[in-house]
Amino acid sequence: MGAVTGTDGELLLYGSYGFTGSLIARAAADAGAPLILAGRNARRLRRQAASLGFPYRVAALEDAAALAEALEGVRAVLSLAGPYSRTEGPLVDACLRAGIHYLDVSGEHATFEGLRRRSEEAAAAGVTLLPGVGFDVVPSDCLALYVAQRLPDATRLEIAVQGVAGVSRGTALTMVEAAPRGGLVRREGRLVWVPAGWRRRRIPLGDASAHAVSVPLADLVSAFHTTGIPHITTYYMGSAALGPLLRATRLLRWPPAARLWEHVAGPAVRLLRPRPSTRAQRGRALVWAEASDDTGHTAAALLRCPEPYTLTALVALDAALRVARGGVAPGYRTPALALGADYVLGFPGVERIDL
Ligand SMILES: NC(=O)c1ccc[n+]([C@@H]2O[C@H](COP(=O)([O-])OP(=O)(O)OC[C@H]3O[C@@H](n4cnc5c(N)ncnc54)[C@H](OP(=O)(O)O)[C@@H]3O)[C@@H](O)[C@H]2O)c1
Repeated sequence: MGAVTGTDGELLLYGSYGFTGSLIARAAADAGAPLILAGRNARRLRRQAASLGFPYRVAALEDAAALAEALEGVRAVLSLAGPYSRTEGPLVDACLRAGIHYLDVSGEHATFEGLRRRSEEAAAAGVTLLPGVGFDVVPSDCLALYVAQRLPDATRLEIAVQGVAGVSRGTALTMVEAAPRGGLVRREGRLVWVPAGWRRRRIPLGDASAHAVSVPLADLVSAFHTTGIPHITTYYMGSAALGPLLRATRLLRWPPAARLWEHVAGPAVRLLRPRPSTRAQRGRALVWAEASDDTGHTAAALLRCPEPYTLTALVALDAALRVARGGVAPGYRTPALALGADYVLGFPGVERIDL
């Protein structure tokens, strides 16, 4: 059974002592927001709880009884335990059983799709499922809704992001998992597999432009739900080296190469425990979106944002507290439909520019 300390609270942060969880817990402490820390490592939770003054609960995801006990008296769970392909199932099951809202900062299109399919079940249980309340996908989802509202007959949506100057262990593990799967786009409303890095283009950013390569972002699920636009391609903006690098991952479609990758890359990330440097965390990020219709009209806009992990900590905490306080209807929700196209503009350092 899990250890339970402290009293009931509205929001439980699962995976609180990881890199992103620690940023959110620190932001909650600074804001005086109530929080219960949670995860599977009692020693790390005890240490974090002692330094921040929050109660904590210990439960492994495999222990359904401990998990149920950890969720007692809680209104919402914000999960920072990624990669989510491994953690979301048991946590969402436990939330649905207990009637507790679930949020995460997943950027994995497959877990969004999984939650979307459970929307009716969640609505019947009075539970809100709101994945992606981090840099992925809050700014891009808000921007997608904004450009779609400016061009209501849009049939195509392109989204590009830039800004990861350094990645954390959880993000790196998620990238390792995704690499062998190749690329993905949405065509005529359906998700379609394509070769990794299949499309390159330049993104016009007003007074400059950026090189971009298509990558399968979670917006392929969320932006479709938010806007209903049937053709969606998502990109990462970066150096020209990104294209060849992504295309090299096509080798991982060959099963022996994929097995070797799995045996080398995952353990290497676990051993090296990467994290963005303090300097990287002072950087900036960009999100661009363009809607176009069949007559050649377009609506495009750009968001300038703080560095992704910094923004994630503020946005995830705010969104989770809003959901915990009953501000979002039950069922599967996307950030922009739940909180509005202008929601992201309420955070310091976020600026939207019409192009
Ligand atoms: N949407 C965004 O923009 C955004 C931004 C930041 C992060 N993320 C995502 O957030 C996730 C966490 O990233 P991170 O860098 O904070 O990772 P991290 O430092 O590795 O921390 C992950 C946390 O989750 C826990 N965890 C992982 N697997 C678990 C499992 N099977 N059972 C129980 N606990 C488990 C870890 O506990 P142990 O140490 O005990 O394993 C740790 O507390 C990743 O999926 C990342 O991609 C998304």
